[in-house]
Amino acid sequence: MKKSFGAKTLVFPTPVWVVGTYDRVGKPNVMTAAWGGICCSSPPCVAVSLRKATYTYGNIVERKAFTISVPSEAYAREADYIGMVSGKNVDKFVTAGLTPIRSSLVDAPYIGEFPLVIECRLLHTIEIGLHTQFVGEILDVKAEDSVCDEKGYVDIEKVKPILFDPEINTYHGVGRLLGRAFSIGKDVRDIHAEERTMNKLHFASQVFPNNGMIPSEYTCDGANGNPPLMIRNVPANSRSLALIVDDPDAPRGTWVHWVVWNMGPDTTEIPAKSVPRGALQGTNDFGKQSYGGPCPPSGTHRYFFKLYALDMSPALKTGATKAQLEEAMKGHILEKAELLGLYRRR
Ligand SMILES: Cc1cc2nc3c(=O)[nH]c(=O)nc-3n(C[C@H](O)[C@H](O)[C@H](O)COP(=O)(O)O)c2cc1C
Repeated sequence: MKKSFGAKTLVFPTPVWVVGTYDRVGKPNVMTAAWGGICCSSPPCVAVSLRKATYTYGNIVERKAFTISVPSEAYAREADYIGMVSGKNVDKFVTAGLTPIRSSLVDAPYIGEFPLVIECRLLHTIEIGLHTQFVGEILDVKAEDSVCDEKGYVDIEKVKPILFDPEINTYHGVGRLLGRAFSIGKDVRDIHAEERTMNKLHFASQVFPNNGMIPSEYTCDGANGNPPLMIRNVPANSRSLALIVDDPDAPRGTWVHWVVWNMGPDTTEIPAKSVPRGALQGTNDFGKQSYGGPCPPSGTHRYFFKLYALDMSPALKTGATKAQLEEAMKGHILEKAELLGLYRRR
């Protein structure tokens, strides 16, 4: 059931951007704006919506240019100040201790201390109501070396941009990585198509998509219990189900995180932090007879959750190894389904 909140500007996330301009006499000014976003890919453009009452409004109309400086979390206080005081009366750069840098491309300054900046020439001015939308063509994007990754891409986790909640007026940091765009969604289509046409064994989790990031709660950075898992379409002639979780990216060869067998063929859920009743657990590479969550020493590792539908129940004792289970399953696997999870420590 959804509750109605009426016609209002309530949507998440909005950015915290700082718009840089020069006034009539060349004094640099900045103001904070949350009503903004990318609005065209080609030519690359951004739009910011400002009230006529702001000093910045007149500056953009006059100079036909503006910059956007993206503050990192460390500059949340300065960004808040810049959004409360008008440049009509003060030099906000001086009071906030920030450095105005003259753009070489447009007639506007940006903030030297902020890690990511965009330089824009005014392309369109759209009167909407209380706010006027300024569409700026992006002529350049500049980022500090320190916020770029090894491949040279600007890294959102290094920039640490601020997100704004315009409903209760709070600032937030960027949350955890969920997965790759234009990638994790492919699987949804594939799985559904496969399920419809072939009724194949299906293995998934409610807390991360296939090829997506495993929430830290289910790793050594959190409570370290297994994530909840769902099983569908078990072949009718199955006698039991087995599960192996391992990481082929571990520095000293594949690392075993979980070994489980003797799960009933009617199992449809493995709830978080538990094993189905009657199932037995083997010894993982942490030396434990339980689940041991991801704990990669560096970089992003892949964790393969492999589910096997078997035509028998392996006669193994609690504590057996992955190799022993694999040996016992030989020639008895009716179907296998795989779920891939990723994890990188922060
Ligand atoms: C988080 C935050 C977001 C804001 N977003 C906008 C906005 O999108 N548009 C706007 O006109 N004012 C916005 N403001 C208010 C202006 O930043 C504020 O009026 C500022 O003093 C204007 O500065 P200026 O007069 O020097 O241009 C925001 C303020 C804050 C703190």
